Amino acid sequence: MDDRNGWNRDAAALTGATHSPPQSFVEQANVSDPGIYEAFAENWPACWERAADLLSWDDEYETVLDETDAPFYRWFPDGRLNAAYNCLDRHLEAGRKNHAAIRWEGKQGERRTYTYRDLYVEVNEFAAALRNLGVEEDDVVTIYLPMIPELPIAMLACARIGAPHSVVFAGLSADALATRMAAADSEYLVTCDGYYRRGDAFNQKSKADNARIGCEQDVRTVVVDRLGDDLPHVLGDDEWDYHELREEFAGETVEPVSRKATDMLFLMYTSGTTGEPKGVVHATGGYLAHVAWTSHAVLDVKPADTYWCAADIGWITGHSYIVYGPLALGTTTVMYEGTPDYPDRDRLWKIVDRNAVDVFYTAPTAIRAFMKWGAEYPGGYDLSSLRLLGTVGEPISPRPWNWYREHVGGGDCPVVDTWWQTETGAVAISTLPGIDEMKPGSAGPALPGIDVEIVDQSGDEVTPGEAGYLTITRPWPGMARTLYDNDERFVAEYWQRFSDPDADEWRYFSGDTARIDDDGYISVLGRVDDVISVSGHRLGTMEIESAIADVDGVAEAAVVGRSSETGDTEIYAYVSTERGRDPNTAVRQAIFENIESSIGPIARPTAVVFTPELPKTRSGKIMRRLLEDVANGEELGDTSALRNPEIVGEIQAEIEDDG
Ligand code: WT7
Repeated sequence: MDDRNGWNRDAAALTGATHSPPQSFVEQANVSDPGIYEAFAENWPACWERAADLLSWDDEYETVLDETDAPFYRWFPDGRLNAAYNCLDRHLEAGRKNHAAIRWEGKQGERRTYTYRDLYVEVNEFAAALRNLGVEEDDVVTIYLPMIPELPIAMLACARIGAPHSVVFAGLSADALATRMAAADSEYLVTCDGYYRRGDAFNQKSKADNARIGCEQDVRTVVVDRLGDDLPHVLGDDEWDYHELREEFAGETVEPVSRKATDMLFLMYTSGTTGEPKGVVHATGGYLAHVAWTSHAVLDVKPADTYWCAADIGWITGHSYIVYGPLALGTTTVMYEGTPDYPDRDRLWKIVDRNAVDVFYTAPTAIRAFMKWGAEYPGGYDLSSLRLLGTVGEPISPRPWNWYREHVGGGDCPVVDTWWQTETGAVAISTLPGIDEMKPGSAGPALPGIDVEIVDQSGDEVTPGEAGYLTITRPWPGMARTLYDNDERFVAEYWQRFSDPDADEWRYFSGDTARIDDDGYISVLGRVDDVISVSGHRLGTMEIESAIADVDGVAEAAVVGRSSETGDTEIYAYVSTERGRDPNTAVRQAIFENIESSIGPIARPTAVVFTPELPKTRSGKIMRRLLEDVANGEELGDTSALRNPEIVGEIQAEIEDDG
């Protein structure tokens, strides 16, 4: 099979010794009846009412699932609800106004706690302000903020007035922001003056200003003053100060707008196989039900918990498991600004200790870094409050899995390895921590009510142990409704490959390869498309390649992923220069700069390898697979099909020189 990202092939090849959830965990778990798998299977799709029951509906739905317009499935189509009401008002009505909703740990050591009442007040004031600026139901509001409390506040304010938000990761560039705003026709932007990066003030507003220049539409902008005197700024036309707006609308409340369950809650752009990012559309009812349900059943979140997903809200993980899931359940969600190693490598454990965090959720790339830094960092703190650990974003091999359980979880916390995607909205594959055995290196079985099949090229199920394509055979509530303004691409990207539209048979293709064992446990191997996952962020190789090709003097570029010694994915760029142009430091520098300005620093390659030519097939197709093997130091297969086989040796020599 054309397993493009073959470097991940062995990442989860071996599953380690299994572990059972400890009795003490099982006894208190939200979900502990093993019969749930059968109960869901026998009662599909009505089983999903159990998820919907975690929410408060303005109008109860009669229909659970409408499949008539497949693959544009409609969950709870005749129900109505408001997401902000579910995350705020109903907890106040239940007498929990003084319960902590958000505990924020800022980069400069600041700490702020928002009770549900505090959050309710601020969300309402900002919702009133947005309305006053002209935001109407269904207008897309772009949010370009770092990890400060105003980010979830702005999201919930949008949800309250039925305006879909489109959060753009704060580290992305002005160009990336402009592309996303233009694609969504977004006329409103919420941003800030800047933020601190490793102690330095970093200008965000200048990026936002440049993005606005690149947009055809007029953009009304709200600016949060994060840095005060550290970075003075002036407001221009069509710009408002967040704190002044709050004063102007102090104490105002806004009725939550009753949305159809199928109405868009938000848009999230993600990388795809072409340069154009995809605007994944999530609906209000199905999405919220699924994130609430998985927060309850997989992450075992309870209202009395202090729960911490150490991700960035600028990606789907933060949307689902910092904001919507935990707040829908009325728990305390921790959010932190910064990085795990600043000011020191004990930053996270300090936060766990002083907040007595019960459930902690992070990414394998972070876990591998913790392991590299050493057990003394978590060892220096009291982490005994932890009851459950989770991981998401990439395959995790048994060694870091066991290290995490041992050194962070004290040897007795269950670990859930959760597989999902921007498009699935919420977790789709994971063990249920109160029921299932854990096999390090395998995410686990598909969740109850979700039907995963690993298939070969022709869509037939593979035998256990064999690698195949990860597909989902029936719809699920958190699934994307479509791609913004692009129904055809939604069908083409996810459904076409394994569906039979004439027979009205639909099968979702995730873009991942995986293997299933005899117990139905799934090990995800990696992606088949031109997408590289770096630190749990999806980057399209095409996007990076076109940023490189834009540089003066560059003829052609190919970008591949390489698995580092620590198991992290690194970006390798192979570049050929135009005739007569020497590959030199200036070109290399220009490549880095252009990538950072068109995508962002996360896409910066670890290595830029100059080569006179890229290896190509006789038909002229760049052999990326071969370049990937070269980067990974793997045995090369037959290169005789190449038009220029001699180039491969030259590239290998170049890499060895560098290395
Ligand atoms: C891709 C989705 C879902 C939030 C983070 C990333 C990979 C995700 C796992 C896991 C192996 C995983 C897949 C997937 N992935 N979780 N537990 N084991 N791989 O969201 O940016 O949409 O990326 O991340 O390749 O397709 P995303």
